[in-house]
Amino acid sequence: MEKKNIDWGNIGFGYVQTDYRYVSTYKDGAWDEGGLTTDANIVMNECACVLQYSQSCFEGMKAYTTEDGRIVCFRPDLNAARMVESAERLKMPAFPEEKFLEAIKQTVKANAAWVPPYGSGASLYLRPFMFGWDSIIGVKPANVYQFRVFATPVGPYFKGGVKPLTVRISDFDRAAPRGTGHVKAGLNYAMSLYAIVDAHEKGYDENIYLDSGSRTYIEETGGANVIFIKGNTLVTPKSSTILPSITRRSIVHVAKEYLGMEVEERDVALSEIDQFEECGLCGTAAVISPVGTIDDHGRLIHYAGFGPKIQKLYDTLTGIQMGRIEAPEGWIMEIE
Ligand code: PLP
Ligand code: COI
Repeated sequence: MEKKNIDWGNIGFGYVQTDYRYVSTYKDGAWDEGGLTTDANIVMNECACVLQYSQSCFEGMKAYTTEDGRIVCFRPDLNAARMVESAERLKMPAFPEEKFLEAIKQTVKANAAWVPPYGSGASLYLRPFMFGWDSIIGVKPANVYQFRVFATPVGPYFKGGVKPLTVRISDFDRAAPRGTGHVKAGLNYAMSLYAIVDAHEKGYDENIYLDSGSRTYIEETGGANVIFIKGNTLVTPKSSTILPSITRRSIVHVAKEYLGMEVEERDVALSEIDQFEECGLCGTAAVISPVGTIDDHGRLIHYAGFGPKIQKLYDTLTGIQMGRIEAPEGWIMEIE
C-alpha cells in the first residue's frame, strides 16, 4: 500500500480530510449495522439537539506505525469505555464497546495510506464522536444519534514542537463540582475557547485550571492532565472533576513498573508547585509536553523542561506505543 505524498515530519495538529470515515445511526432504540463512507459532510435539521443544546461527546486516540511496520492503536478499549461514561452523563445511548473497537479497526485500515511512517514523529489521530441528531426544542435528550469516527494525520499539538511550554494559572474555571469535567463532553471545550484565545493573545501556550470549588488545587489544562516530578516521585492531581486521561493512567503504570518511581495521585495545592523540579502536560494529543514555566499571576515557577524523568517517561511511553519496548498485556491493538 502506497503512502500519501505528505511531508510527514512537518505537519502540525490540524484537520486533513482523509478518504474514509465510519458512521452508525441510533434510531428506534437500536444502533444500526454501521459502516464506512467517503462523505465527510453531515446534513441535519436546524433544530438538531447537538446544534441547540450541545448534546455531544467525543474521544481522541492515535494509530501508529511501529518500528517493524505494523499499524497499532494504544489502549483503545479505554477510549471505548470512557465514551460509554460520557454518553451516560449526557443521556445518550452507549455505543457498544466491541462495536467501537471494530469501528476503529475499519477506519484505520481503510485509511492506512494516511498513517504516518515510523520515525516521522507524526501519527494518525482518530476522533470518535457522537451527537444528538433529531429536532429537539424543549430541553431534553434527542431520540436519534449518530456515532462517527474520522481520521486525520497529525504532528505535535503545541506550536514549536517539543519546546518547553509557558502556561498560566487561569482565572477562568473549567469544571464545576458535580458537573461534567470528568467526561469528554463537547460543551467542556466550548466553554474553554474564551480562555484559550485569551491565553494565546497574552503569549501563553495553555491554561492550567484550578478546582472551581476552592480555587486552591491544580486540576488540568484545557486538553491534558498535569504531572509533576520531585526526585524519584511522580505527583499528579487526583480530582473528580478532571478527565481521567488514558495517557496519565499509562504514565503512572510506566513510572511504577518500568522506571521504579514512586507515584502520588493526590490533591496538588497551587501553593506547593514551586517544590517540583519537572512538570509536563499529558494526553493523546499532547503526548508528554514539558512545561518550562508556570505563571501564577506574576509568580513565575521554572521547571527543567525535558528534565531527566520527563524524558525517561516520554521515551518509555512512546517506546511502548511504537513497539520498541514491550507493552503490558492488552495495551496494543494491532490493525490487520
Ligand atoms: N484532559 C482533557 C481535558 C483532555 O481533553 C484530554 C484529551 O483527551 C486529556 C486530559 C488527556 O486524555 P487522554 O490521555 O485520554 O487523551
Ligand atoms: C486529545 O488529546 O485527544 C484531545 O482530545 C485533546 C484535544 C484538546 C485535542
